[in-house]
Amino acid sequence: MGFRVFVTRRIPEAGLELLRRECSDLHISPHDRAATREELLRGVAGRDGVLCHLTDRVDDEVLAAAGPACRAFANYAVGYNNIDVAAAARRGIWVTNTPGVLTETTADLAWALLMSVARRIVESDRFFRSGRWDGWGPMQFLGHDIHGATLGVIGAGRIGQAVARRATGFGMRILYCGRRDVPEMQQLGAVRVELDALLAASDFVSLHVPLTDATRHLIGRRELGLMKPTAYLINTARGPVVDEVALVEALRDKRIAGAGLDVYEEEPMPTAGLIELPNVVCVCHIGSATEATRSKMAEMAAMNLLAAMRGEVPPHAVNAPHSS
Ligand code: DGY
Repeated sequence: MGFRVFVTRRIPEAGLELLRRECSDLHISPHDRAATREELLRGVAGRDGVLCHLTDRVDDEVLAAAGPACRAFANYAVGYNNIDVAAAARRGIWVTNTPGVLTETTADLAWALLMSVARRIVESDRFFRSGRWDGWGPMQFLGHDIHGATLGVIGAGRIGQAVARRATGFGMRILYCGRRDVPEMQQLGAVRVELDALLAASDFVSLHVPLTDATRHLIGRRELGLMKPTAYLINTARGPVVDEVALVEALRDKRIAGAGLDVYEEEPMPTAGLIELPNVVCVCHIGSATEATRSKMAEMAAMNLLAAMRGEVPPHAVNAPHSS
């Protein structure tokens, strides 16, 4: 007998293919949108495993609804702040994620945002398309140099390191903060400093911390106030790491030069005033969104789920179920 699995929203074929081989009942949500609460509660019922997304709030109610047969919730993301991992552990359910495969892709996007906002690419593109451009001008779209500037990396894990590696090609000075020295960062010549010192000295501040109670609103009014008026904030981590109301104020009052955002406090809703600002580049949580990376994530999530359902320790578990 094969496994009974619910996939809360379609993922690339590479992952579904793996699941089909071992599942007798594979239910993939037919909707190309996040599952509603009701769909989630109904969909998980009686499953051996669930492949879920960062848009699914997997709390104790959902875990209970899955029932006693459920072995795992495999998140199709490296971040797993959407899942109550402790509650899952108490219920003997594995929670897994997809680390590593999206590191370089997400770092690329952080750099795309950094370059877009510092060189005013999106603003200039919009102006060009509007038909109002009347030719080259000495004072048009003046941005800030990237080469030779100082990059501050907050959170020197895999993605933070990949962002820092790219900075060496631009001759940048690199600062980072974290709880301990990170050898990979030291090898790049990066210097570990306290958060406040990083904020005060950096021309670009790039966020790469997971969302936890300790990092919620890590960047608020006080921290934005420490940044240079010529500095930029880049967020490809999680929206709630930044107090978005304070960010809108700082951008509006030109207390910082700009921001490049992939993630938001209340996705998909932007905080009032954000999208009217010219000095912010906003994209739609696309950090890992390339064909190759999303396929690898799909395979990894499927492999995690299948391993757990077979009774094995899944390769990328983020909790330790009490009864497993
Ligand atoms: C993640 O993996 O956490 C990203 O936010 C989505 O790929």
